[in-house]
Amino acid sequence: MNSIERKVRIRNMDKLEKLLEQMSLKEKINQLLQLPGSYYENDSFLTGPAQERGFCEDNLKLAGSVLSVSGAGTLKALQKKYIDRHPHHIPLLFMADIIHGYKTIFPIPLAIGCTFEPEIMEKCCAIAAKESAAAGLHVTFSPMADLVRDARWGRVMESTGEDVYLNSCFARAAVRGYQGENVKEKGKIAACVKHFAAYGAPEGGREYNNVELCDATLKEDYLPAYQAAIDEGAGMVMAAFQTFNRIPATANKYLLTDILRKQMHFQGVVISDWMAVHELVLHGMADTDKEAAMLAFGAGVDVDMSTAAYADNLEKLIEEGEISEKDVDAAVLRVLELKNKLGLFENPYKDADEEEERRVVLCREHRLWAREAAAKSFVLLKNESGLLPVTDRAEKIALIGPYADRKAMISAWSIFGEEKDCITVKEGLLEAGYLNIEVEEGCHMIDGHMQLGGLARGSVGFEDEEQAGQMYKDAVDLAKRSDKVILAIGEHRFQSGEAASRADITIPKGQQELLKGIYQVNRNIAAVIFTGRPLDLREVEKYAKAILIVWFPGTEGGNAIADILSGTKNPSGRLSMGFPYCVGQIPVHYSEFSTGRPASTLKNGSRFGSVYMDIPNEPLYPFGYGLSYTEFQYGGVELDKDIMTGSEEITASVTVKNTGNRCGEEIVQMYLQDKTGSVVRPKRELKGIEKVSLKPGESREVKFILDENMLRFYTKSGEWDSEPGTFFVYIGKDSDTQNKAEFELVK
Ligand code: BGC
Repeated sequence: MNSIERKVRIRNMDKLEKLLEQMSLKEKINQLLQLPGSYYENDSFLTGPAQERGFCEDNLKLAGSVLSVSGAGTLKALQKKYIDRHPHHIPLLFMADIIHGYKTIFPIPLAIGCTFEPEIMEKCCAIAAKESAAAGLHVTFSPMADLVRDARWGRVMESTGEDVYLNSCFARAAVRGYQGENVKEKGKIAACVKHFAAYGAPEGGREYNNVELCDATLKEDYLPAYQAAIDEGAGMVMAAFQTFNRIPATANKYLLTDILRKQMHFQGVVISDWMAVHELVLHGMADTDKEAAMLAFGAGVDVDMSTAAYADNLEKLIEEGEISEKDVDAAVLRVLELKNKLGLFENPYKDADEEEERRVVLCREHRLWAREAAAKSFVLLKNESGLLPVTDRAEKIALIGPYADRKAMISAWSIFGEEKDCITVKEGLLEAGYLNIEVEEGCHMIDGHMQLGGLARGSVGFEDEEQAGQMYKDAVDLAKRSDKVILAIGEHRFQSGEAASRADITIPKGQQELLKGIYQVNRNIAAVIFTGRPLDLREVEKYAKAILIVWFPGTEGGNAIADILSGTKNPSGRLSMGFPYCVGQIPVHYSEFSTGRPASTLKNGSRFGSVYMDIPNEPLYPFGYGLSYTEFQYGGVELDKDIMTGSEEITASVTVKNTGNRCGEEIVQMYLQDKTGSVVRPKRELKGIEKVSLKPGESREVKFILDENMLRFYTKSGEWDSEPGTFFVYIGKDSDTQNKAEFELVK
């Protein structure tokens, strides 16, 4: 902050403090309440769910923020009515989950992670902000910076993956995209980084479950991505649902105050997750909502999302001396400051504008970018005998599967996105000139008995056996009379996202049967897989010659898929989360620690190693893995020196050559390994990425600068430091690369 900015801030703070002085305690406490927007949308407030949850008319009049409503017209009207009734005319904050796009839906965050290009995240978030701001929103509950290593957990789709470095780059880029230089500017919204902390590691991959991590793992692996978002200026942080160190994050003073406020220097607003304050009662941490409010507020939660615990109890808790009015003032001031940063005191409607909303939402430019981002996020896992791309548009293509002509290819977290706006695979292929395609669904998306919960009701085809048999037969017949089969299969979109943990992470059984049936009559199968998580693909791997992972690709999915299948674009995505061999391996990640009995040292069939008896240790497809339609060859790793002293840097370089016959993009990945440390160190850690675009026959030297900072970790004495000794530098195409050199750190 320069001196002018500081003065402006002080002047603003003066005004905000004066406003605070004029507010009654009740008015202040209500600033710390967030209500669902639906309460404002109809007149049934006093008889509906709001009343059941213990809210009263005063809460409606005075609440500081609202979530999950949008639309310029709606929000302007709501804001106007609210401000008119509010004693100090303080504007409301409008928040919502804009997770991967507002109406123009981009690929899911896990897919964007696979681009290994944070600039893509930045651009997607900037567009999402532009559309949301025009629709009247001020804050998004994004990015989710939770590190994820357990594919059973449904929310891995909201993260950018298993790696600390990559997640941090993406979290930072997302905040930059949403907020820009100054969140007050037109088309910008504030970011709320979540879920603090370590929500991504629930035991057994089961949603909302306890998290067990040691402090060093928390600090070294889980906190950096939140920190990156905070350093980039994220306006808010959301506390996680789960228990950490035996205390739910919502009531966890160590996480929210000692770490978040004191060590990470976060100065913005902390909000609870949905009803999480009340859930402290269910966790068995509090007997009553009053006690829950005391614990959550005392731990450092400023805003209570969707419960009446704060609104009903903070005043009493102050009277009883359990919390101080000074602390309430500080929390309220943070909320007012956020409103002020967004410019709401000057213009409470900010960018809400029906005309602009119509103009920008789903406009051509945004759709084009959604197509580009989606194509870059797809990962080609297998391509035997160059089955893909399908360059001959006259070939007879059987397009089969529940996703062949399905618009529902946005994730469960596309709350404002609409299926009707999506381009299906069939539509994309026809548009790309594949006129000789025939389409069959082949089977229903999921098996009839599978429970998807309320949200998905109506979207599942429950099987009538006769009809299912006919669908299957029609599909197999079509495959038989076709040259190639494009099999568009995968998870239902409600099989991932919140509350979508799965113990079996294969594609639904009916779809596997379809794959096997088709294999009997046609071996040229390219499986195009829709998913929100890494899957167990052993069966697909057995029968499909080509496998393309397209995640939930968003509004322009079908066009982007056609771009890749046709070879108009060359796949360049790499896995930001490895695909396990099977569920029994989970959690599995490339940066694991060395054991005392590594598989590599096992001799003469000895069993006493850190291995499974029945499956390999390695995932089916590791972190960083992905193919291209061309080939890249790596030269050896060269270092300009082999000793690093103090602040000196080492340049590591490698020459990459496109040895195939198409232009292509390669993601060059640099990993470091600390051979010996005062604590056990990961086998390797990603420390640098560089995307290069090469023409056939072209080569490029790629350089990485290594410095002492990159070698730091939490040492035995708890210091963030590096230790002298040998380090290995690996540079290659994925986390399995053996292409390495070594150097010494001398201190
Ligand atoms: C989720 C959050 C989300 C919130 C508001 C919760 O259930 O865990 O990620 O932001 O709802 O919709």
